[in-house]
Amino acid sequence: MAKHVLVTGGAGFIGSNFADELINMGYKVTIIDNLSTGLKENINPKAIFIKGDVKKPKDVEKCFKKRIDVIFHIAGCASTIKSFHDPAADLFTNVLGTINIINAAIKFKVPRLLYASSMTSYGVPDKIPIKETMSTRPISYYGITKYAGERYCLATGLRKDLSFKLNVTAFRMFNVYGRRQSLTNPYQGVVSIFIGNVLRGEPITIFGDGEQSRDYVHIKDVTRAWINAIDNEKSFGEVFNIGSGTRMSINNLVDFILRAFGKSRKNYKVIYKPERPGDQKHMQADISKAQKLLNWQPKIKFEDGMADTINWAKETWYK
Ligand code: UD1
Repeated sequence: MAKHVLVTGGAGFIGSNFADELINMGYKVTIIDNLSTGLKENINPKAIFIKGDVKKPKDVEKCFKKRIDVIFHIAGCASTIKSFHDPAADLFTNVLGTINIINAAIKFKVPRLLYASSMTSYGVPDKIPIKETMSTRPISYYGITKYAGERYCLATGLRKDLSFKLNVTAFRMFNVYGRRQSLTNPYQGVVSIFIGNVLRGEPITIFGDGEQSRDYVHIKDVTRAWINAIDNEKSFGEVFNIGSGTRMSINNLVDFILRAFGKSRKNYKVIYKPERPGDQKHMQADISKAQKLLNWQPKIKFEDGMADTINWAKETWYK
C-alpha cells in the first residue's frame, strides 16, 4: 500500500513542491499549513489539507486521523531578519512546532521523520566548503531555532525508551530556489526577492558589499534528495548538507538576474545598504556525504534552474 506522508508547511514554496512530487510518485499526502506565508493555490488538490498551526498540538493531532507513515517537517518561520524582530515567534514556530510534531510522531507511532534544517546552523563556518562534521555556531536567532529543531529530532531518534523505532534524517538545506518561491515576500530568499524587484521595476538592494556568497540549489534537486531518502536506511540518524556544492556572490547573482532580463547595472538601479544582523559571509556545501550515502547528485545547472524560475516568475506576474 502507498505510504502516507504528512507534509507540514505543504502550502509553502518547499513543502508544496515536495507534496506535488510525492503525489506524482503515488504517495498519499496530508498537508498541514496555517497559510501565513503559504498559498491555497499551491495545495495539491489530491492532498488532504488541514488548515492548522504546528504551534498548536490540537491542530497537529488532527493530521493523524488516518495512519501516517512518514513526516516531512518543513513548517517554520523561514526568515533570518524576522527572527531578530520577533525572536519569540521564531522560537515558538520553529522549536515548539517541532516538539509538537515529535510528540505526535511518538503518540501515533510514526516510524519516519525527515526534518528541514538549514545551513544557518553553521553560522560562521570553519572553512568552505562546509562539511556536516564542522562546528555549528549559528549567528542568527533563526539559525539557533532551526538547529535546535534538528537536535530535538535527532535526539528523539536515539531514544531507546520508545516502544518503536523512530528513524530521523535532517537536511541542512542551502539556498533553495525555484518555482513558487515568493515574488512578493521580502523575507523568502534572495533569488526570488531580486526577480520580484526586477518584475516590479524597483531598485535592487544589496545588504553589505555584495561579496558575500551563497550556494543555490534547485528545488527539484532538493525534492529528489528528500524523497529518495524515505526508505534509505543509510540516511537514518544522519544529517546531510543539501546544496549545489558551488557558490556565487550576491553581486554576481544580481548581474546574472539583470542579464536574464536584458538589463545591466548601467540601466538598472542597484542600491547598497549596510549589512544586516546574522548575515553569513561565504556559504558553500560539501555534498560528498549526500553523494555517498544517498547516491544523490544535484542535476540542475544554475543557468537552467534560473531560466526556468524566471520563466515561471514572468508567467505568474503577467497572468
Ligand atoms: C536563506 C533563507 C533561510 C534558509 C537558508 C538556507 C530566507 C530569507 N532565508 O538564508 O530561510 O534557511 O537560506 O537555505 O529565505 N540579500 C540582499 N538583498 C536582498 C535580500 C538578501 O543583499 O534584498 C542578501 C542577504 O543579506 C544575504 C544574501 O543576500 O547576504 C542571502 O539572503 P537570503 O536568501 O535572504 O538569506 P540567507 O541568510 O542566505
